[in-house]
Amino acid sequence: MNISPTLIQRTIDVFERAIGQAPTVIVQAPGRVNLIGEHTDYNDGFVLPCAIDRHTVIAARARGDRLVRVIAADYDGQADTFALDAPIERLDAPMWANYVRGVVQALARRGVPLQGVDMVVAGDIPRGAGLSSSASLSVAVCRLFAGLPGAGQLGAIELALAAQAAENDFVGTKCGNMDQISSAAGVDGHALLIDCRSLAVQPVRIAHGAAIVIIDSRVQRGLVDSAYNARRRQCEAAARHFGVPALRDLDSETVEARGHELEPEALRRVRHVVSENARVLAAGQALAAGDLARMGELMAASHASMRDDFEITIPPIDRLVQIVKDRIGTAGGVRMTGGGFGGCVVALVPEALVDPIRVAVEQDYRSPGGERATVHVCRAASGAAARPAIDTPLAV
Ligand code: GLA
Repeated sequence: MNISPTLIQRTIDVFERAIGQAPTVIVQAPGRVNLIGEHTDYNDGFVLPCAIDRHTVIAARARGDRLVRVIAADYDGQADTFALDAPIERLDAPMWANYVRGVVQALARRGVPLQGVDMVVAGDIPRGAGLSSSASLSVAVCRLFAGLPGAGQLGAIELALAAQAAENDFVGTKCGNMDQISSAAGVDGHALLIDCRSLAVQPVRIAHGAAIVIIDSRVQRGLVDSAYNARRRQCEAAARHFGVPALRDLDSETVEARGHELEPEALRRVRHVVSENARVLAAGQALAAGDLARMGELMAASHASMRDDFEITIPPIDRLVQIVKDRIGTAGGVRMTGGGFGGCVVALVPEALVDPIRVAVEQDYRSPGGERATVHVCRAASGAAARPAIDTPLAV
């Protein structure tokens, strides 16, 4: 599963020190990178992400009572404890605790039987970089509780939807379903072509010899929530204007024929979503055919659309994309990935171009604050899973 053994050991060590016993179960859930299909998930559209070999790991053990106790190894051992039998309140701080609380509430609302646990959470997904460290936490917590005796078997999509509900209804982030589905349903060596309406997931093999390079611009994502929610509202208003359930239901002919009915800005938003959906479907075919040059064209068009029509890129990210593009030419693709306004750039290139990209980025890129970008070469990973921590049957 390509999980860092050091990360797992660190999680177990913190658990044993804090709880005084060994954990009985280890859960992992990966982060994700989106190859193409941005801001299409909440428009009922298509996306092509993959889970990555960076994870949230939970070490856990059942308690004899109805308390949930969570220790965050990466936040100086900050802890949160809450009762399963009392109303679960949202906290002002620490924010990470709300992802755990929200999932427990979402599962309880779905009638999943719950029991008290001790758990330690740790991870190696860069935080705040748009690689879904929070979604992977929600999915990992879901996977843990869904594996409890008597919980019944929740499938990957059900886990993902419960995790999304936790973020939407409890944490208050109005995200779509891409991040949670990627983390729950990832397939080793494959990207996932997800239909965010039907929730059909089609794994698409990433050709041998193609590298996924994620470059963190080190630009703090600013105003993410408000700008994200504003885009979402604009898309929903445009769908209402055209009398369709979601922008997924519009084609480019209708947009061009009736576009004059919208304000110019609203029209640009619609153009992005409609054209991006078409690009995702084309990219699914190009990736399956191992055609990195075609992926490059589609990723370039996606970046231009995010910059000019959806207006979610920022100048340092545009510069970073150009630096990589200049180096890889037509041999592969590069674009901003994730919600926007900072975060990461993703490149899909022949392996031989990984080092040249590193060199170009090192030489030519600094963030506005003078920082160097961080380069992560990732493998497409499998989705969330639980396993016994020791040689006893899987029972927390
Ligand atoms: C964030 C959200 C996702 C998706 C992307 C943009 O990652 O959590 O649901 O909307 O932005 O594609």
